[in-house]
Amino acid sequence: MIAGLAIAAIEDAEVAAVVALWERCALTRPWNDPAADIALARKGPNSTVLLGREDEKIVASAMVGHDGHRGWVYYVAVDPDRRGRGLGRTIMSAAEDWLRQAGIAKLQLLVRQENAKASAFYETIGYDEAPVIVFAKWLDGREQARQLARPESQA
Ligand SMILES: CC(C)(COP(=O)(O)OP(=O)(O)OC[C@H]1O[C@@H](n2cnc3c(N)ncnc32)[C@H](O)[C@@H]1OP(=O)(O)O)[C@@H](O)C(=O)NCCC(=O)NCCS
Repeated sequence: MIAGLAIAAIEDAEVAAVVALWERCALTRPWNDPAADIALARKGPNSTVLLGREDEKIVASAMVGHDGHRGWVYYVAVDPDRRGRGLGRTIMSAAEDWLRQAGIAKLQLLVRQENAKASAFYETIGYDEAPVIVFAKWLDGREQARQLARPESQA
C-alpha cells in the first residue's frame, strides 16, 4: 500500500471530479456519457467505481464489476501529475481484491489498439494478452462501426 493513499468506492459528491479526471486522462469518448456510466455502475451490487485519494484529492480510479462469470475493469486512470509511483498498480490490485471477494476468478479488460502505454502497463503488472477477437453490437439502435465506415456509394 502507498502511504497516504486511501481507496474506497465513489461517493455522490465526487462524480464531477471523477469525470474531470477521466477527461484529463483522455478516457472519455463522445459516445459514452461518463456520468451516466458512473450511475449505472453504482446501480447494483455487481459493480462500482473505486477511487484512490491522496491529500483529499482523487488521484486514481477503476470502474470494476462482474457479469456473473468474469470480472472487468474500465476507466483505469491515474492523475497525470502522479503517475509512475505505483498508483496504477495499487488501484488495479484493489479492483482484483474487490472481484476476489465477489467470488470471481478471472479479470479481463479491453485496451484500445493504439494505447501501447496501457498495454505495457498491464503486462508489467501481470496481465497476459489473450488470443481472442472482441465482437461488439450496440443494443440501443445505434449504427455499427462497419455501417459508419461503409463508403457513400455502397451505403
Ligand atoms: C496506465 C496508467 C493507469 C498507469 O498508472 P501509473 O500510476 O503510472 O502506473 P504505476 O506507477 O502503478 O506502474 C506500475 C508498473 O507499470 C509500469 N508502467 C506504467 N506505465 C508504463 C508504460 N507506459 N510503459 C511501460 N511500463 C509502464 C511501471 O513502470 C511500473 O512498473 P514497476 O512496478 O516494475 O516499476 C496511467 O498511465 C494512466 O492513467 N494512463 C491514461 C489512462 C489509460 O490509458 N488507462 C488505461 C485504459 S485501458
